[in-house]
Amino acid sequence: MAHVELQKISKIYPGNIKAVDAIDLNIADQEFVVLVGPSGCGKSTTLRMVAGLEEISSGTIRIGNRIVNDVPPKDRDIAMVFQNYALYPHMTVYKNMAFGLMLRKMPKAQIEQRVREAAKILDIEHLLDRKPKALSGGQRQRVAVGRAIVREPAAFLFDEPLSNLDAKLRVTTRAELKRLHHRLKTTTIYVTHDQEEAMTLGDRIVAMKDGRIQQSDTPLQMYNHPVNRFVAGFIGMPPMNFFDGALKMVDGQMVFEEGRLENARAAGGAADDTTAGDEPLVMVGELTLPGNGFRLPVPSHLRERLAGQVGRHVVLGIRPEHFHLQPTGGEGDCCPLKVRLNVVEPLGNDMDVYVQTALKDHVVGRLEAQSGLTADAEMTLYVDLRRVHFFEPGETGMNLGLAKAAAVV
Ligand SMILES: Nc1ncnc2c1ncn2[C@@H]1O[C@H](COP(=O)(O)OP(=O)(O)OP(=O)(O)O)[C@@H](O)[C@H]1O
Ligand SMILES: [Mg+2]
Repeated sequence: MAHVELQKISKIYPGNIKAVDAIDLNIADQEFVVLVGPSGCGKSTTLRMVAGLEEISSGTIRIGNRIVNDVPPKDRDIAMVFQNYALYPHMTVYKNMAFGLMLRKMPKAQIEQRVREAAKILDIEHLLDRKPKALSGGQRQRVAVGRAIVREPAAFLFDEPLSNLDAKLRVTTRAELKRLHHRLKTTTIYVTHDQEEAMTLGDRIVAMKDGRIQQSDTPLQMYNHPVNRFVAGFIGMPPMNFFDGALKMVDGQMVFEEGRLENARAAGGAADDTTAGDEPLVMVGELTLPGNGFRLPVPSHLRERLAGQVGRHVVLGIRPEHFHLQPTGGEGDCCPLKVRLNVVEPLGNDMDVYVQTALKDHVVGRLEAQSGLTADAEMTLYVDLRRVHFFEPGETGMNLGLAKAAAVV
């Protein structure tokens, strides 16, 4: 086992496409790190550079204490599992798992022992004589993992290994991978664009955008203290609601007033206002305050940090689960918000409500299920002020509530 260290790693494809931009990342021995981010942010490229399948444009990669920049993939002592498992169709499961070790001329008895051990861990002992076409998707995926395990590598690299499985199987296999890591403790770098998979699997999550690391933290830290608007919007489902507005002093109290964007356009140069993939769309423009927006007191724990922002355009972030039907917490911990209810989506224990404020049409709340709500009617939601965030405007606007030092990435 080994730690993996990426130092100022860049990948520039022909045509000056900067897929990965000078990233620094240290993965400790036995750690399970998940790289997450929207399509095209450079996750696979990063992983493939660690594996040696892609040449690096600049920087240094170490596996253990060895610089592997010029070491061919087969000598890097890592095992990679891809989305399409690429099993050999004409070989049995046993042979598929044993093949890599046979190429390495490992003694037969040792191969047998490793394959049987891995098959036992993955609960595929009864499938060893079958060919891949006689397996389900989930079983094939386990064989692919088995093929990686028998190598006993210094590190596992996974690139979206679950994305070919149906939703239910994805969840159970995810739990198996986690158990496997508890047992083997092999250093693991796992790539996914699914924030839920990242949250549940990772000891640590590394959120990427445009070839850069935005934040590297534990799942909970990332959920509770996102460094910027991008991370805040990417982690958590349904995504955080964002409101453009300004901070004001009203009767000696610091408040946020909802506003509207003039000349609104999608940030990042998107051609129209459709979302690319599941990434929430960020609009930018010039703020106006028509005066009929809602007002929300800035919670006491944030007032000092936000003092310099009074009179400025800021973006308020409220997670769907931090709206409630009743007041929550103690005195001053929540604030009522009048909204218009458009749609209710029951989820069993919870429900999602799609509402609108005076100035914003699409706001989502995740509430405890309650019957008797009427669509197209006014209702009051209570915002848990202890959980709100304020960001600078823009796609990666900084979280203004965090100490400066914590926001530097
Ligand atoms: N061989 C290549 N030549 C040129 N550009 C490439 C090549 N491979 C990838 N890219 C570009 O590099 C960027 C990063 O690609 P990468 O495959 O690493 O993204 P990703 O985060 O894995 O995305 P996804 O979630 O869609 O798999 C993208 O803009 C992509 O178009
Ligand atoms: Mg990819």
